[in-house]
Amino acid sequence: MDRIRIRGGRPLSGEIRISGAKNAALPLMVASLLTAEPLVLSNLPRLADIATLARLLQALGVAVTETQGSDGSLALELCAADVTDTTAPYDLVRKMRATVLVLGPLLARFRRARVSLPGGCAIGTRPVDIHLKGLEHLGASITLQDGYIVAEAPHGLRGAHFQMPIVSVGATENLLMAAALAEGETVLGNAAREPEVSDLARCLVAMGAAISGIGSETLRIQGVARLGGCRYRVLPDRIETGSYAIAAAITGGDVRLLDTDPELIGALVEALAEAGVDIVPIAGGLRVLARRGEVRGVDLTTAPFPGFPTDMQAQAMALMATARGAAMITETIFENRFMHVPELARMGADIHVRGGSALVRGVPRLKGAPVMATDLRASMSLVLAGLAAEGETIVNRVYHLDRGYERLEAKLAQCGADIERLPE
Ligand code: UD1
Repeated sequence: MDRIRIRGGRPLSGEIRISGAKNAALPLMVASLLTAEPLVLSNLPRLADIATLARLLQALGVAVTETQGSDGSLALELCAADVTDTTAPYDLVRKMRATVLVLGPLLARFRRARVSLPGGCAIGTRPVDIHLKGLEHLGASITLQDGYIVAEAPHGLRGAHFQMPIVSVGATENLLMAAALAEGETVLGNAAREPEVSDLARCLVAMGAAISGIGSETLRIQGVARLGGCRYRVLPDRIETGSYAIAAAITGGDVRLLDTDPELIGALVEALAEAGVDIVPIAGGLRVLARRGEVRGVDLTTAPFPGFPTDMQAQAMALMATARGAAMITETIFENRFMHVPELARMGADIHVRGGSALVRGVPRLKGAPVMATDLRASMSLVLAGLAAEGETIVNRVYHLDRGYERLEAKLAQCGADIERLPE
């Protein structure tokens, strides 16, 4: 397995182009199942998760052709004119939880679907009960058989009101796609407002769906009989944006993040500003400047958008581990999302976890060490800690990073980081 070696302590300086959002790209690719016409998506990140989902769609009979966007980014043409299978098998689903998103579209267009119960990052139990309850509200009958979700709607889905018991990004996306082809009106209450959900909704509208309330907690979908193809550019990755903003902050650097938008990371921008990091909006992105030793500890609590993203919690903790003063970091979205804590501690961080909160007392300097993480964002927090640490850090299990950060070493190295991939 590849590893990444970082020799820390260099302030980053330069420019980083932000890729398209993985978490928007995945549901957008799945949306291709809703139509027999081609959907062309550009600004896709070149990531393992994108390849895994493309393989699953191909297994269902979707024709996937790689092309190039006008800006040189990866583009895919996805055409679901000849879907041959409505079963998403275990081998492909276990690699990535987002594969459960095929359930709604398959059910809406083909009236049946069989999807293996999902896997993905090991951050808590992560059930899919809300996805299933919502689809039942739309008229599906659902059973669990031999590790598979078996869903049927022989007479098609019917619009309904569904109030989601907790905010779920995936359930909102699944139901949005199902409702787009259901008969009549669907109202989704307590819907997730994450920018990736809105990106999916905008693409569905471009495909002919009738959706109002985009970006709010109530989505109204007037079902249509059929959807068509379109061309759609994926929005910038706000978690990649935030992660590199922290890379600049933790090294006391000066980095311009391009092809992105500070509005996507409002809660993080606020927290960084409070911590003493300068964030300056620039044309097509933002500039992040910090002085080493002058970042202060600030308390953070994760929450659904527009709150502080759970997907930035681990990276923010790395920053707080080197800040002046203490920070209380509270995780409210996932249980068991502090797996980076013992690894950061091996690098000299002073962190105590009690329940869903971690008290982080900043130390003047972290020390490089061999580390390993068990999920994507936790791995990034170790890279960030390594960039700030004295000496050498080896991050093991790089495949987690390859799921979510396109050309990580190249992007950091071009800003002066001493980072390289050590092949197996
Ligand atoms: C998505 C993101 C992930 C991010 C998360 C929260 C993708 C591909 N992944 O994941 O990076 O961390 O949003 O912002 O977009 N839950 C249930 N029952 C359900 C569904 C969810 O109890 O049926 C719970 C989850 O266990 C979790 C919370 O709801 O505690 C939020 O999960 P959800 O928003 O659904 O996350 P994902 O869509 O899986």
